[in-house]
Amino acid sequence: MREHDSFGPATIRRGRRKFDDDEPRSVKREPRLTEDPDLPDTGDRWSTWDSALTGPEPYPDWVRTEHGATDTELGMLKTGKEADVFLVRRELPATGQTSMLAAKRYRDGDHRLFHRDAGYLEGRRVRRSREMRAMTNRTAFGKELIAGQWAAAEFDALSRLWRVGQEGGTISVPYPVQLIGTELMLEFIGNWETGEAAPRLAQVRPDPDGLADLWRQMVDALSVLARAQIAHGDLSPYNTLVHDGRLVIIDLPQVVDLIANPQGADFLTRDVRNVAAWFTARGLHPDVDELVERLQYEAGLR
Ligand SMILES: Nc1ncnc2c1ncn2[C@@H]1O[C@H](COP(=O)(O)OP(=O)(O)O)[C@@H](O)[C@H]1O
Ligand SMILES: [Mg+2]
Repeated sequence: MREHDSFGPATIRRGRRKFDDDEPRSVKREPRLTEDPDLPDTGDRWSTWDSALTGPEPYPDWVRTEHGATDTELGMLKTGKEADVFLVRRELPATGQTSMLAAKRYRDGDHRLFHRDAGYLEGRRVRRSREMRAMTNRTAFGKELIAGQWAAAEFDALSRLWRVGQEGGTISVPYPVQLIGTELMLEFIGNWETGEAAPRLAQVRPDPDGLADLWRQMVDALSVLARAQIAHGDLSPYNTLVHDGRLVIIDLPQVVDLIANPQGADFLTRDVRNVAAWFTARGLHPDVDELVERLQYEAGLR
């Protein structure tokens, strides 16, 4: 388990200003010491949208694509071994149109990703050998490259699954707004007014009907993944959020190609067992073997 639950998902740390419903938006900024003409009047900086790889089109209408949009850091949502997640408000001051983003910043520290690298990189190719060597030897450059690769892999997986969701597939993932290097910016799943993140599945206590409904959504999502011939690779009640009754799958940097990866079927089985165990502990008794078999069939593995 690589979760670090020292703070709950709803905890907003390091708030330079309070982030409350009743807080007026544009006041309470600390005065700047110097007037920098390159900085906007409000917000911490200009939106980085223009220099980013942007998410799948058509862009949802809440995505702020305008040149004049600004980004404001609202604090940390969660710190982990491999990435930190921050809350960012991107708004267009001229109109007051606001969007809320989760900025997931992959770290390139020494300890990261070793346990993920081994099995997961099978079936992926790294073309340039200079880069391969840098990564193998864990040079600073190599570590930055690895971190960037995980960010890019998550961005790709989310883009793909979000498109499937738009085309009528029954899966919910956060919309991947943009990617720059090791930073991924996603649709914030939670309350956009209060900044409170949606709870993880592990934290919710649904009644029997709610439980059955969440399981149905989980099976639908697993089925979409199987038909896309991928396994999540780290599916758990911690990498699943529940927002207004809707199950949202997150944390997908390590998606596994079920066809290319020789251990693909094992990853799929583990994903199913991880989430099924949580439902079983709450009184639902899904037939795990039958589900795994069906998903393997849907993926073309048997
Ligand atoms: N799009 C999002 N909206 C709201 N909260 C998020 C979002 N993405 C991540 N989080 C929060 O941050 C935590 C860590 O994110 P996750 O993608 O699981 O990274 P990791 O587990 O590698 O640290 C999640 O459990 C969740 O609480
Ligand atoms: Mg996670």
